[in-house]
Order: sequence, then C-alpha cells, then structure tokens
Amino acid sequence: MPSLAIIGAQWGDEGKGKITDYLDEKADLIVRFQGGNNAGHTIVADGKTFKLHGLPSGVVRPGKLAVIGNGVVVNLDDLGEEIKQVLDAGGTIDGLRISDRAHLIMNYHKKLDGAEEKYRGKSAVGTTKKGIGPTYQDKIARIGFRAGDLLEDELLREKISFILPYKKDLMDMMGAEKCSCTDDTLYNKMSGWKEVIGDRICDTSVLINDSLDEGKNVLFEGAQGAMLDIDHGTYPYVTSSSTCGGGVCSGSGIAPNRLDKVLGVVKAYTTRVGEGPFVSELFGKEGEELQRKGGEFGVTTGRGRRCGWLDLVVAEHAARLCGFSHWAVTKLDVLNDYDTIKVCTAYEIDGEEVKHFPASLSKLERAKPIYKEFKGWKSWASSDDMVKNGYEGLPQEMKDYIKFIEDYTKIPASIISIGPKRSETIDRYGKWY
Ligand code: GDP
Ligand code: IMO
Ligand code: MG
Repeated sequence: MPSLAIIGAQWGDEGKGKITDYLDEKADLIVRFQGGNNAGHTIVADGKTFKLHGLPSGVVRPGKLAVIGNGVVVNLDDLGEEIKQVLDAGGTIDGLRISDRAHLIMNYHKKLDGAEEKYRGKSAVGTTKKGIGPTYQDKIARIGFRAGDLLEDELLREKISFILPYKKDLMDMMGAEKCSCTDDTLYNKMSGWKEVIGDRICDTSVLINDSLDEGKNVLFEGAQGAMLDIDHGTYPYVTSSSTCGGGVCSGSGIAPNRLDKVLGVVKAYTTRVGEGPFVSELFGKEGEELQRKGGEFGVTTGRGRRCGWLDLVVAEHAARLCGFSHWAVTKLDVLNDYDTIKVCTAYEIDGEEVKHFPASLSKLERAKPIYKEFKGWKSWASSDDMVKNGYEGLPQEMKDYIKFIEDYTKIPASIISIGPKRSETIDRYGKWY
C-alpha cells in the first residue's frame, strides 16, 4: 500500500518540512492531519526558501494535491498570506483541498490564547499565540465553525448568532482584548473566505481513500512532534492536537490498516520552543553554542529554541506511540565540530534508573540525564561529497552514532540528512512507495 506518514519524534522542528519535501516527489497527495499555523516548516527547493505554516509542504511542487485534513485547524486569513508567498515565488495552489470538517481559527481564538496565557502566569505554556488551543477547545465543546459551514448560508448565520455572543462574554470575563465584530461583520468576513477558497472545500476523507484505492501515493505530513501530543506529550506543556500515529487516522479520515510506513524524524540533538520539561537541555554557553550552530530560531515566532543532547528515552517514547518503521536522522552536520557528543540513554530519578518517559512533571524535574559519550566525527568533507560517497563513505564516528540510535530503538535509520537542501540527503532505503 503506497502510504507513508512523516512524524516528528521530539518537540517539533526536527526537519519534517525538509524530509517531506524530499519524499513527496513521488507522492500524488500530501496531507496535513493535525495542528495549524503554529507549525513552521522550512523548505529549501530549487534555490528558494519557503516558510510554510498552514499549507502542506506539497504545495511547492506543481501537480500534487495538497490536502488540509479534518484534524487540522485553519486560519483562513493567514492561509491567504501563505498562498501569496507561494504564488509570488511562481508556484501554484491549484492542488489545494480543504476538508469540510476542518475547524476554523477565528480572531477571538487568538485573543483568548493570549488571555489564557496571562491567566497561567508563571505556568504559561509559551504557546505560539495562534489560537490553536482555543480552537480545539471549541471543537471538543461542539461550538466550532467548520470549513464546510462556509458553504451553508443559513447554518452559518444561525451559528454566528449564538457562538459570537458566547465568545464575547467569555472574552470580557477573561479580560481579553476586545472583539469589535458584530454578527453581520463576521458573516461578511466569512463570506469573503468562501469567495476565495469555497471551491477547495470537499470531503477529503473520500478523496484520500479513493486515491489509495486507485493505487496513488499518499504522504501524511505531521506537524509538531510526539512530545507535544495532547495525550502523550509533556502535558500541559503540549499543543492541543494528536501528533502521534493515531492522529494520522483520526485527522485525515483513514483507517489504521491503510497506513503502510511511518517515518520518525529525529534531530541528531534536541530542541524545544516554549516552556516545559527537557531533561537533556544544555544551559549557558553550551546551549547557546548548539543554538548558534544549528540556527535554532523558531520559524513561526522567531523565539530562540532551547537546545540539548539527543535523548533516546524521548525517542523510545515517540517510537512506541507512533509505530515508526524507519528513522530520518537530521542535522547531523550541525554536530561536525564537536570533540565529544553525548546521548542520553536513561534518567536517574530518586536514585533509580528510568528508561520510559514518565508522565509526572515533578519526576521529570528531578530527572538527571545518564549519558553515553561518543567521539565526534571531525573529519568533515562537503555535504555534496558525502552524498556522492553514500552511507558507507560517511565518517566512521558518525556511522557509530547512527548505529547506536538504531540498536537502542530497534528501528533502521533510513534517511540521513546533512544539510537543509533536498540534495543534502542520503536515502539508504529508497522504496518509500
Ligand atoms: P520542521 O518544523 O520539523 O519542519 O522543522 P523547521 O523547518 O522548523 O526547522 C528545521 C530547520 O533545520 C530548518 O531551517 C531546515 O531548513 C533545517 N534543516 C533541516 N534538515 C537539516 C539538516 O540536515 N542540516 C541542517 N544544517 N539544517 C537542516
Ligand atoms: P513544527 O510543526 C515547535 C509549541 C509551542 C508551545 C506549545 C503549545 O514547526 O514542528 P500552541 O501554539 O501549539 O498551543 O503551543 O507547542 N509548538 C511548537 N514547537 N515546533 C512546532 O511546530 C510547534 N507548534 C507548537 O512553542 O510550547
Ligand atoms: Mg518548525
């Protein structure tokens, strides 16, 4: 079955955009299944750099269907800006399709996101303030607007008439920034959205399943990462969607038996944006050095990413929850200059060695990383030469490092990424579809 999911194995920003772009050449459909424009995926293609947030990475390749699935939350104002970016670069969005079941991010969701963070005070999550949490809250509370509502005038008017007053009261209560819109202005705004993308809205579950039946290649593109999953991540320092394996099915409307391969994207070290536990974090000069070498600044908010060593307790947690069949190990080139590289293999908590990622925040606070040290691979050639020489030609120390990840997790490292460009990739497997 020609279907492949790509999922981040850490706290996001693993390089999913680059890997998706590398693998979507042979895909017919590229599907986003969760999250929203909190994501920031950088793609360097044909000399151009695209920074995508809400659009599936496939839009940069003409001739593909780029699908926003039902599990995604969509900000149609911001999507318009992104579409402009693609068109300005000479691209097309002819292949864009949006699920009629996808929920819409409204301005009041963004305002409520800010107000909630204020309420939390020093326990703030450090969200992207894109309104993601409040939009998913409304979905679960059954008071969300869905993309398909734009196509049903009467329903839209009726929903506005009870949802808007409710939201305004909530905003007043929470001391959120005031919302000046009325039922009519909101209706007009939503009608404007319909004008722009109304003809792209459809039942994407049918589209995806029919495509699979016809033998087409479907790539499911994850956003965020396993450790930001609402159930399995470092709650409450998580995003509000299901980022792990199960999210692919519920968020795109396919059954679990339709998923063929699951590629876990793991960065050769660890980063996280926002608050929350991070056992292998490096502080001070060490953290700054890794941040600088890796260019670790958020695509969505510009915030500096917290940096630390690779944590295989995290990788095991993600692999168990996502069912990874293969790894893509990214940004190995960033570790080029190091004499010694460390990998966290377990935590010491209250004198005990722990190998499974705990749910308890207080345990995580007390957890000390147990490291295995590796000799760095300072013998560095250009990434072009490395790609030419293939996996066997890589420095022995780098291969030892990769082998350790494979042995620890019992998952083959099939893609090795040594630079941001499509070409800076070694594909040891090659049979993705
Ligand atoms: P995503 O959110 O998982 O798609 O990742 P981001 O795009 O937010 O962050 C990853 C960053 O690393 C981007 O700037 C990519 O262009 C870059 N990148 C991806 N793979 C590699 C790699 O192997 N080496 C280097 N040096 N940069 C990479
Ligand atoms: P990509 O797809 C890294 C983080 C935020 C915050 C938490 C909750 O580029 O990997 P939210 O706005 O989702 O309610 O914020 O999740 N976060 C990300 N961190 N990469 C992302 O996406 C992220 N999307 C959300 O920083 O800590
Ligand atoms: Mg990102």
